[in-house]
Amino acid sequence: MEKYILALDQGTTSSRAIVFNKTGNIVALAQKEFTQYYPQPGWVEHNAKEIWSSQATVLGEAVLKAGINATDIAAIGITNQRETTIIWDRETGVPVYNAIVWQDRRTAGICDELKNSGKEKLIQEKTGLLIDAYFSATKIKWILDNVEGAREKAEKGLLAFGTVDAWLLWNFTAGKVHVTDITNASRTMLFNIHTRQWDDELLTLLDIPASILPQVKSSSEVYGETSGQLLAAKIPIAGIAGDQQAALFGQMCTQKGMVKNTYGTGCFMLMNIGDKPIISGNKLLTTIAWQIGDTIQYALEGSIFIGGAVVQWLRDGLGIISSSSAIEEKASKVTDNGGVYMVPAFAGLGAPHWNQHARGMIVGLTRGTTDEHIARAALESIALQTMEVLKAMEADAGATIKQLRVDGGATANNLLLQIQADVLNTEVIRPKITETTAIGAAYLAGLAIGFWKNIDEIQAQWAADRIFQPSENNNSATLIAGWQRAVNACKSWAAD
Ligand code: G3P
Repeated sequence: MEKYILALDQGTTSSRAIVFNKTGNIVALAQKEFTQYYPQPGWVEHNAKEIWSSQATVLGEAVLKAGINATDIAAIGITNQRETTIIWDRETGVPVYNAIVWQDRRTAGICDELKNSGKEKLIQEKTGLLIDAYFSATKIKWILDNVEGAREKAEKGLLAFGTVDAWLLWNFTAGKVHVTDITNASRTMLFNIHTRQWDDELLTLLDIPASILPQVKSSSEVYGETSGQLLAAKIPIAGIAGDQQAALFGQMCTQKGMVKNTYGTGCFMLMNIGDKPIISGNKLLTTIAWQIGDTIQYALEGSIFIGGAVVQWLRDGLGIISSSSAIEEKASKVTDNGGVYMVPAFAGLGAPHWNQHARGMIVGLTRGTTDEHIARAALESIALQTMEVLKAMEADAGATIKQLRVDGGATANNLLLQIQADVLNTEVIRPKITETTAIGAAYLAGLAIGFWKNIDEIQAQWAADRIFQPSENNNSATLIAGWQRAVNACKSWAAD
């Protein structure tokens, strides 16, 4: 009987489940969007129970659509929105507060205090990260300090913290397993990427009791099995990685120097830097790419907070397009942006600026500006933010990046990828399977149980769909100059 791997991709705006076969092809896919909560400007929350229920629902749907039985699934791989912070009661499994999402800026003040007390170097050296509200540590602190009774309970060992991977694993195993994988741990700002341990000094600095932390394991091993309440079979959960690391693996960027960019809610560019961490001199993050067995790989990362989400905003916030895919047609109606630039700093600016207080801006409006120019400026903003990160990466690596592998929903947009190739002056490659995040998690799970023998076997499954070459005589120099002025204006407008 043919067996399959089920990948669960718990993203920022939707939960997805994809069934893959042995040749790495998609057999069935189910997806469900879930509620976003914005209780105050700059705050973003999810209901952790809804994260779990939407994930469990799509799992069932994908199995049904594939026309298979639970017993046909050899293993499950989990990949997830990273940094998003959930704290729950160990006894009841009930979260003490909503999940605080990675985009949430409420802890910017705590981060400013850490910076002002001179902790930047220490934190970067230990964790590879720059102090920012993006990461889990200050979100944990906020919950312990602001939810009534949480700190007392945490100190008695009654609460558990997890990023979304750990939360799903806990629920799948009916509370038996409290584990996270090393890639997710490396996004908390509490994990030492050199010793590969939770860091006592940072825990003390942020006043976080170690008892709430999950055990850290590799990205490819059996962590536990589904409890049997959900499916008719107990299935091993055998792979976990944060979504961007999973995408790096799914893109088969397994050699030092290989780079991918994922266009999801945000944009995340990662470069494989091999088995030694390099601390960035250009405001990029150093993070753990994956650990398989004892082999560890590190990555440099440029995190852009708003990528595809700007398109969603044009759809839901401005209402100038009816669906996300409609942006390509609208933006194609004009040959340039008509002098309009959009800086989508809705959640501050990530790499390479790291300005927590910046907010979005549209500049260069005239009486001739139309929604088509705004649509074009929105697409360009995704490509131009990516360009800034790529330049920082080249500066850190001391080399020119000749090829960028791309994936994520927005890569269906040919206009975006052509603009991308033009502003980077680099070849942009879209693979045949753009579900690279999910397939990365599937590969990690499959490797753990011998479904695939080794990375070489998987490597042969990666294939290009289309290569975008920089076009001759493009206007990217003008575009880049205008963008730089717009970003500077956005930063100088930002409140301290
Ligand atoms: O670091 C945040 C990232 O993991 C979120 O990814 O795909 O949900 O935008 P995505």
